[in-house]
Order: sequence, then C-alpha cells, then structure tokens
Amino acid sequence: MSEASEHPTRRAVVVGGGEISRVHLRALAGMGVEVAAVVDHDAERAQRAAAPLGAAAHTDLDAALTDGGVGPVDVVHVCTPHDQHLPVVLAALARGTHVLVEKPLAHTLADAERVVAAAEAGSRKVGVVLQNRYNATTRAMKEVLAGGSLGPVLGASATVVWSRTADYYAGKRWAGQRPRSGGGVLINQAIHTVDLVQWLLGPVTSVSGRAFRLLPIDGVDVEDTAAIAMTHAGAHGAEVRSTFFATAANAVNEPVTIDVTCERGSLSLRGDLTVTDAQGGETVVSDSPAVAGAPAYWGRSHEALIGDFYARLDEPEPFWIGPREALEAQRILSEVYARS
Ligand SMILES: NC(=O)c1ccc[n+]([C@@H]2O[C@H](COP(=O)([O-])OP(=O)(O)OC[C@H]3O[C@@H](n4cnc5c(N)ncnc54)[C@H](O)[C@@H]3O)[C@@H](O)[C@H]2O)c1
Repeated sequence: MSEASEHPTRRAVVVGGGEISRVHLRALAGMGVEVAAVVDHDAERAQRAAAPLGAAAHTDLDAALTDGGVGPVDVVHVCTPHDQHLPVVLAALARGTHVLVEKPLAHTLADAERVVAAAEAGSRKVGVVLQNRYNATTRAMKEVLAGGSLGPVLGASATVVWSRTADYYAGKRWAGQRPRSGGGVLINQAIHTVDLVQWLLGPVTSVSGRAFRLLPIDGVDVEDTAAIAMTHAGAHGAEVRSTFFATAANAVNEPVTIDVTCERGSLSLRGDLTVTDAQGGETVVSDSPAVAGAPAYWGRSHEALIGDFYARLDEPEPFWIGPREALEAQRILSEVYARS
C-alpha cells in the first residue's frame, strides 16, 4: 500500500457559512483537509465561503450528499444556529459521515439528548467543539488537580464578563430569539466555562441558579446575566461547591476567570494561569496567541480540537469530547433556565 492510500486526504463539508465557519475553514486549510462543499441556506453566503477554496456551494446538506456531486465525505462540520444542530447532525449521520458539531449540542435539552442518542446508536465519530478544554492553561489546571499535589479541592468560582450589544444581535437574529438559540449568555457564551468547571471539579450533583436580562435590547428575549451555585461530587466522596457568574451586559470582554482553592494551594486563571503551592511558590502558564481573525475571548484552541478530531478518526474509541460529555454543561444550564 502506498503512503498516499494509507493516509488519504480527508474530505469535509462545512454546514453554515457564517462567522464560526471561517475558523473551521482556516483550520481545515492548515491541515490539508479538502473542503468538498460549504452548505448554507443562504446561497450567497455558501458561495462566498466556498469560492476561495474552490469548493462546491450548496443550500441543502442532504441534497449535496446525495446527488450534489460532492463525492465521498469524511466529516460534516455543523456550524449552524443552535436550533439547526440536531437536523444537520441527523442528516450527516444518516449519510454515514463523522460529525463535528459546534457548541451547544442543541437549543433544548430534549434535542441535545437526541443528538446523544443518535451518536451512540451509530458507529461514526461525533465530536463537540468545546475547544477551551485544549487551552494550555485549562489542561494544566486539569493535570495539577489530577496530580493531587495541592491537596483536596475546597471550592471554586468562575466568571464570564463579556459584552454583546444590539449590533451583535442585529447581525445574528437567531441568537436573540429563545425559540432558536435556547437562551443567551449561558447557552451561547458561558457554556464553555460551565463545561470547564464541571470537567475540572467533577460531576455536578445539584444546581441552583437564575438567569435574567439586565439591559433590554429591542427584539432580544434571551438572558444577558446568570448566577449559579453548583455542588460537585468531588474526589473521595467529598462534596465541593462552585459559584459562577456570567454576563453579556458588560461594556467590554474581560478574560474568563476560574479560581480553584485547594487545601495546599490554589489555581487562578485570569488570562494566564497562576498555580500557587503550599510554600507560596508560583508557576505561571500562558496560552498560545489568539488564532488570527478570531476574537481571543472565543478561546485559542479551535484548531487544536479540530486537528485532534481528525487525527483520531481511525481510532476505535469515541472522541473524548462527544455528545455525552457535552450534555453535562447543557444539563446544568437547562436546570438554571427551568428555575428562571
Ligand atoms: N466554539 C466557539 O467558540 C463558537 C464561537 C462562535 C460561534 N459558535 C457556534 O457556532 C454556531 C454558528 O454560529 P455563528 O456565529 O457562525 O452563526 P452565524 O449566524 O454567523 O452563521 C450561521 C449560518 O448558518 C446558516 N444556516 C442556518 N440554518 C442552516 C441550515 N439548516 N443549513 C445550512 N445553513 C444554515 C445561516 O444562513 C448562517 O449563514 C453556533 O452554534 C454558535 O454557538 C461557537
């Protein structure tokens, strides 16, 4: 067997040709993955995204994969609005492709559970883009906590203090409409940090919280602010509490913060991560520079996650950030919405 046929060029279709698709398309170009087509309901958007790559432009995934002349496809990237995740995931799995779906799994918990069920019923890989688990800082937090050198975790707090103005919602109408997005700052922006907190501290056994709107914007009915307290089943049966504050009503985008206090030291993420040990010694971990063209507050690790997903396509195990893992954060924020 020749080198080329052992490592065939992978072929991708990107569905949704909006803002985040640019990050996916740039990552794919950098990895040498062939973009077979860009699909967008809006034909002009599909064309605009596809043309520079010499890819085909389509307005419907199913039609593209059946008689659209796209040819064999390894991975479908789901970059559509939240209410358009489930139908695209189901269409892609029905055509036998692997799937990489943007966060959240879906706009409702019920649809998110259907994504989990569909993924687990099939043999294709389904990855979820929670890219901040690939940040050098958050990986270091996970390793230090797993290593146990700082002792048991006493508690944690996290903040997402960002700005989403009327201009943001004007350019992305679905994001301000609860029936399409499922919510605001929690499901759209803070979901990454909710996921990180439960990944770092352990499974959440109880949630208490509220989501509400502080600053009215015409035509927007989703929350801009939320406060949560979570109980985690920590190591050795000990329960640990975390608190969480998220707002999109700030004037500017501040760095995400996560502070974890342990019996013999602490971890403090504020852009950089500072690890303080029992003797007061400090170690600082920095993330790699932001990806060109993407705001730094999105996190810097889209390319790392996409590259890792492709590198693991032939492995027998499911991708490590799959629908079941992503469901945890969705379950937490859904509980807050149910109480609000
Ligand atoms: N991981 C991250 O950090 C990150 C950052 C930004 C956005 N996102 C996620 O990416 C997804 C898309 O967000 P965006 O900001 O690019 O939105 P967007 O509005 O800029 O683009 C969405 C595109 O999807 C198209 N579309 C809608 N329904 C479709 C369908 N059924 N088939 C084909 N095309 C369809 C729209 O016409 C639009 O062009 C969302 O899930 C969002 O939460 C993730």
